[in-house]
Amino acid sequence: MSGILDGKRILITGVLMESSIAFHAAKLAQEQGAEIILTAFPRPTLTERVAKKLPKPTKVLELDVTNAEHLERLEKEVRDELGGLDGVVHSIGFAPQDAMGGNFLNTSFESVATAMHVSAFSLKSLTMACLPLMENGGSVVGLTFDAQYTWTGYDWMGPAKAALEATSRYIARDLGKQNVRCNLISAGPIGSMAAKSIPSFNELSDTWNHLSPLEWNTSDPEPAGRGVVALLSDWFPKTTGEIVHVDGGLHAVGG
Ligand SMILES: NC(=O)c1ccc[n+]([C@@H]2O[C@H](COP(=O)([O-])OP(=O)(O)OC[C@H]3O[C@@H](n4cnc5c(N)ncnc54)[C@H](O)[C@@H]3O)[C@@H](O)[C@H]2O)c1
Repeated sequence: MSGILDGKRILITGVLMESSIAFHAAKLAQEQGAEIILTAFPRPTLTERVAKKLPKPTKVLELDVTNAEHLERLEKEVRDELGGLDGVVHSIGFAPQDAMGGNFLNTSFESVATAMHVSAFSLKSLTMACLPLMENGGSVVGLTFDAQYTWTGYDWMGPAKAALEATSRYIARDLGKQNVRCNLISAGPIGSMAAKSIPSFNELSDTWNHLSPLEWNTSDPEPAGRGVVALLSDWFPKTTGEIVHVDGGLHAVGG
């Protein structure tokens, strides 16, 4: 059976638990014919354990996306394993505790800088680390949480996601000539590890329960994973700098 990622080589960050959006992207990517390689933070052992639940075995590389040495050695490690890349998934987000949960007006710049570095600037760092591997062009896909609005308790992750969204557009602008696309999936709330660090996650879920045109299930990361795989595929060949909402349609409705 042929899949929409047949013959594609994809690097996927952000597989931490089975609840990770990236785990579902990885599973679906393999099912759709891709060869994948995973990167892990903070420890490869955690990701290796979860990777055992994927349909096929996959190599796991250590990558802290704020670590220049890790980024530098990525090209050789991936080339040795896959020869090159056709796609990259950025599924990474982090903000220190004092940057979320109602402390917006008093958060230190240090914490804001960490949130920005890990969650937004890293889209550029990761893309550039992988660029030499995408000799025939490629598709970079990241994950955002709609930065057009404020969300209870989300606080400095909001500006970090706004920066991620803008960064994606600038990458799309600057790498279009090399046939590299850059797009984001704007996902609704999903009960992953990252979500557990959002103190008001239940309130966000309630918003979706009340307002989402399509039924939204916070325990199901698969729809977001499907969106990622679609953007990695050749079915969005002329789409770049785009944000595709996989949020049950919530972005389209007012109160
Ligand atoms: N869960 C949600 O409600 C939701 C909604 C919309 C968007 N997102 C976004 O989806 C992406 C994936 O999150 P998730 O919900 O699957 O949670 P998750 O906790 O499973 O994934 C977050 C990942 O970020 C990685 N990470 C953190 N710091 C890192 C660093 N310095 N270097 C490399 N990796 C690092 C973690 O290892 C983890 O794998 C994030 O960008 C998140 O903001 C999540």
